[in-house]
Amino acid sequence: MDSSNSDDRFGLREPFVVVEVNEPDSDPDTKPKIRVSGLTRVSNSGVPILREVCVDISKGLIVGIIGPSGSGKSTFLRALNRLWEPSSGSIFLDGQDITDLDVLSLRRRVGMLFQLPVLFEGNVMDNVRYGPNLRGKKLQDEEILRLLKLADLDDTFVKKNSNELSVGQAQRVALARTLANEPEVLLLDEPTSALDPISTQNIEDAIVKLKKEGLTIVMVSHSIKQIQRIADMVCLLVDGEIVEVLEPQQLSQAKHPMAQRFLQLSS
Ligand SMILES: Nc1ncnc2c1ncn2[C@@H]1O[C@H](COP(=O)(O)OP(=O)(O)OP(=O)(O)O)[C@@H](O)[C@H]1O
Ligand SMILES: [Mg+2]
Repeated sequence: MDSSNSDDRFGLREPFVVVEVNEPDSDPDTKPKIRVSGLTRVSNSGVPILREVCVDISKGLIVGIIGPSGSGKSTFLRALNRLWEPSSGSIFLDGQDITDLDVLSLRRRVGMLFQLPVLFEGNVMDNVRYGPNLRGKKLQDEEILRLLKLADLDDTFVKKNSNELSVGQAQRVALARTLANEPEVLLLDEPTSALDPISTQNIEDAIVKLKKEGLTIVMVSHSIKQIQRIADMVCLLVDGEIVEVLEPQQLSQAKHPMAQRFLQLSS
């Protein structure tokens, strides 16, 4: 590992970063929804991608992940969905190591919306039905319409073929498909990157609504303004390390020089 990134030149590294909001009646013994401990990834050519990332995420929060392109945001999200297995470090869901869980049930409980959505062959309805079908549950048409509406798509999309959608439409169908699995955690990788401002606002409203229903949401976004609108906490990922955890309104107080520069240029 590159030692220049494992020292503490800025006095910013904490042994464990806790992302939570203190509720007056909260039980201090309650386990975090997600615990990431010492998560490390090194590329095949030996380049560090994630460097001992440690973070606790409380249930029912929207946690924003921001950072420069290539800093490891998608890699981090994908680990939570077990799309790769860390050689070093662990991830716990409700206190259980995710590698001890059946991978399909994990992916039902932890839904992921990818940066580049890929839909299955067939129409929109087939896509939304897919997950529940795997579990032997047939979604009623009204339920499909409700999920599409939540994802800011009207009834006219139901019969559309998945290969005749724009990227922004496909992104929203993928969201409805993920929500059909009734996940407890939602991992969103730039969920509104292809959407117009109105649709973006509708999706942000849906994300906040889902949080109010108890979902825990981890969202990568390049939009600082979006993070400030809806996130409860923000993790700043720079060069594979969480260098700061801040409340959205305190982002301007970031101390890490790279984080400061990134924030200045993106605001
Ligand atoms: N499968 C892989 N093999 C080797 N290197 C990879 C792999 N996946 C990602 N990387 C490298 O890991 C680093 C982090 O990539 P990642 O996709 O997580 O970045 P990101 O923060 O999501 O960037 P962006 O904002 O552009 O989406 C990059 O340098 C990338 O080249
Ligand atoms: Mg990415």
